[in-house]
Amino acid sequence: MKSYRLLRAGGHSSLAALRRRGEIPDRGFAQGWARAPSRRRIVTVSSLQLAALIVVFSTHAADSAETFIVPRHSPGGFEAKMEYCQDCHGPSGQGYRGFFPIPRLAGQQPEYFENQLRAFVERRRPNNVMANVAHVLSPAMTTALARHFQALDPEPLGGGPKGLAAAGRQIFEDGIPDANVAACAACHGPDARGSGQFPRLAGQLYPYVVKTLTNWGQERGQIPTNQDTSAIMQPVAHSLNKAQIDAVAAYVSSLR
Ligand code: HEC
Ligand code: HEC
Repeated sequence: MKSYRLLRAGGHSSLAALRRRGEIPDRGFAQGWARAPSRRRIVTVSSLQLAALIVVFSTHAADSAETFIVPRHSPGGFEAKMEYCQDCHGPSGQGYRGFFPIPRLAGQQPEYFENQLRAFVERRRPNNVMANVAHVLSPAMTTALARHFQALDPEPLGGGPKGLAAAGRQIFEDGIPDANVAACAACHGPDARGSGQFPRLAGQLYPYVVKTLTNWGQERGQIPTNQDTSAIMQPVAHSLNKAQIDAVAAYVSSLR
């Protein structure tokens, strides 16, 4: 896919350069990108404010509940990072349908979210933009961001061909027995909201799902000596033909 090559070929991942070429949304005025009044102004030199903390509780098993502490209003703090992510992924994490698709993060499973950030850093999932974004995030910040995006629940952007959704639903719920493809619902959940390492697909952008399933073997699990969770999905993606990919992508992208 053209957009995909462009993204990977980049030695040019500065935000400003991407923005100039229209590859990512312009701050503020791209369609539907009404920005909340900048919270950056809250950042002052007050050491009290710099010391303001956001405490995020991991909701894993109660007995192993961990507490993560991330500075809230410092330039490298949580709010600045969150706004940075939302510049590309949308103010509600709904994703962005631009020159290349930027995936929805809203409602995403935190375990999957964190797995992918590690995969970008370790180049198991090669992507220059996200590798640069992710390698500076501390584990605590990563967890805080994962929790933040999980809690968002915007309308899906939609945009998939509506006529395909019924065929897509059948694949999602029943799989494709002739091609030995298991039901997507078996792993991604009956409502496509995922669980743990299995990502949410509900509301994910149609062009992103199509691209991801089409290119799986070149985009995921690229370090052979470091097998990861992408191997679970590999045979499924490999067995779908183009029409089946389009249909199932149309279906999941329409789900709330
Ligand atoms: C310059 C734009 C840009 C910025 C800024 C950005 N991202 Fe991304 N992000 C992308 C693109 C593009 C992809 C899709 C990569 C691909 O196609 O595989 C992506 C993918 C992801 C994924 C994987 C999603 C999935 O469904 O597999 C996660 C998680 C993610 N980004 C988190 C973040 C976080 C957290 C931040 C802020 C710290 C952030 N991103 C900032 C562009 C951006
Ligand atoms: C055996 C379990 C299993 C089945 C069945 C399965 N998946 Fe997955 N899928 C996964 C796992 C695990 C991942 C996460 C891979 C990773 O961590 O890289 C995934 C990831 C994905 C992604 C990437 C999501 C993103 O945000 O980038 C898509 C799209 C996807 N699956 C679609 C499907 C579709 C469509 C079907 C049915 C045709 C399906 N899956 C069936 C286990 C499964």
